[in-house]
Amino acid sequence: MTELLDAAAAWDRLRRIRTTDEALAAGMVADGDGGLRWQQPAASEALELAGRYLPLCLAGPRVAVAQLGQSLDGFIATRTGDADYVTGEEDRCHLHRLRALSDAVVVGAGTAVADDPRLTVRACAGDNPVRVVLDPRGRVPRGSGVFTDGAAPTLWVVGPEVTPTAPGTGTEVLVLPDAAAFAPERLLTALARRGLGRVLIEGGGVTVSRFLQERALHRLYVTVAPVLLGDGIPGLRFPGTPVMREALRPPLRRTLLGEDTLFELELRPGGGPSGGTGSGGRAG
Ligand SMILES: NC(=O)c1ccc[n+]([C@@H]2O[C@H](COP(=O)([O-])OP(=O)(O)OC[C@H]3O[C@@H](n4cnc5c(N)ncnc54)[C@H](OP(=O)(O)O)[C@@H]3O)[C@@H](O)[C@H]2O)c1
Repeated sequence: MTELLDAAAAWDRLRRIRTTDEALAAGMVADGDGGLRWQQPAASEALELAGRYLPLCLAGPRVAVAQLGQSLDGFIATRTGDADYVTGEEDRCHLHRLRALSDAVVVGAGTAVADDPRLTVRACAGDNPVRVVLDPRGRVPRGSGVFTDGAAPTLWVVGPEVTPTAPGTGTEVLVLPDAAAFAPERLLTALARRGLGRVLIEGGGVTVSRFLQERALHRLYVTVAPVLLGDGIPGLRFPGTPVMREALRPPLRRTLLGEDTLFELELRPGGGPSGGTGSGGRAG
């Protein structure tokens, strides 16, 4: 009897797939709808993992995605900057899977200062991406873990006024010539030149909003937690529309992640959900 593919084995295969040929070699076959599915019988979690992450695996060598976990009223942290944690354990696992599928994980200076995040893959199997800190004014403390813990390589991206000294082993400083060089598409091109073509913009709100506003993202994952903060650090902010009928309504998919709801928005071709443009939910 054919063995049932479980979630751990499915993830182990998925995280190594970057092309259709690799997907076929990993045990997938055409599903008749233009997509791919596991050839062998698979547990429901293995099917869900393929549904959620295979489109990203196959999105090509250059893809930019972003994520935010927010409250029902749109905040990604309390007013003191505490984001520990906005969403639940399943969303943390989802975030770590996104990291594992990325060559680089990008955070803004605000997040690096507020959270001193590790940005490594711990909640699932996978390799750590290169950690990229966008810090035009060089305000992130030199003793931050991301510069000193040696857990993964770090690229500290600073402006021309910052003294370019690497704060720790494993940290490289990239000095950009001016503010224009921090434009999202230019940053993504600079990362791609270093072999970092698959990029996760992890936060915070200012950084993700800038990439969204400048149409640099292929897809955006927003997880909404059933919590109200009243005020705090805002998530997405960009110049809005005066009338509802002109509001941005990208194709999306919804997934329940424990008590949270994950919205996966397709913003540009290349990183879009393979399951069409409907909003049909997937069991989390
Ligand atoms: N819930 C979540 O999913 C989540 C995720 C990450 C972070 N957070 C929380 O979010 C908060 C921080 O978010 P935030 O929105 O205040 O700040 P942020 O997005 O982390 O950092 C913004 C700053 O990064 C620099 N920056 C980022 N992109 C840039 C670009 N393209 N060009 C030039 N500079 C760029 C700028 O630094 P300068 O100001 O120095 O110019 C900018 O003001 C923290 O409290 C953290 O805990 C929550």
